[in-house]
Amino acid sequence: MFKQFMQAVLFASAALGIASSVTVQAADFSGHRTAVVFYSLLHNRIGGDDFAAEHPVGHTEHIADLIAAATGGTKISLVQAQPYANDYDEVVDQARSEQDANARPELKAVPDLSGYDIVFVGYPCWWGSYPMAFATLFDTGALNGKVVIPFTTHEGSRFGHSLTDLRSALPQSTILEGYACRGGDALDEDTAAEVQEFLQGLDLPN
Ligand SMILES: Cc1cc2nc3c(=O)[nH]c(=O)nc-3n(C[C@H](O)[C@H](O)[C@H](O)COP(=O)(O)O)c2cc1C
Repeated sequence: MFKQFMQAVLFASAALGIASSVTVQAADFSGHRTAVVFYSLLHNRIGGDDFAAEHPVGHTEHIADLIAAATGGTKISLVQAQPYANDYDEVVDQARSEQDANARPELKAVPDLSGYDIVFVGYPCWWGSYPMAFATLFDTGALNGKVVIPFTTHEGSRFGHSLTDLRSALPQSTILEGYACRGGDALDEDTAAEVQEFLQGLDLPN
């Protein structure tokens, strides 16, 4: 029932899926080199490209767009080598098995983050945490020494236990306050204002 509910919310909001043209102002990122690494199921399921033709943006991706526009950051999509099934329920089961196995799914490409000092890390809340593709990325050490700003979209769990997981996976990063948004609200105009507020409130290091 929960799965069907989540699917209905995902599809209903995706049906409205036109990327917002709202541009938000941010805290001063001008002295920084900022990347916005995000993960959306849309780009990680079989048939995702077909799906994207009709619903061009994932929930988390949309928040990434807002943040990238506001900060001048580079948007980077985290994509697995092996996409999940097309069927949503199957994806939910696959993701659960991967979490249980503490798996490290191979990435299509490991993003080169060497030129950035601030990295936003955006993920859909999956079974209370992040998709295991991020665990693969974190293990590479690509985020060591960087300021990491998490954001998530979810259907009720907010960050779940992902911030605890993030802190233990990234002991050599400085993790700032994060932003959580219900996936079904990601495309709302109010959300753009909320993202702006969040960015303005960030206490960036010099
Ligand atoms: C495998 C899977 C597990 C999920 N687990 C949760 C969860 O534990 N809590 C929650 O609130 N939402 C959960 N969701 C819903 C997603 O977090 C939500 O729909 C999100 O906004 C999707 O973002 P995306 O379009 O960027 O992929 C799950 C979705 C999937 C596919």
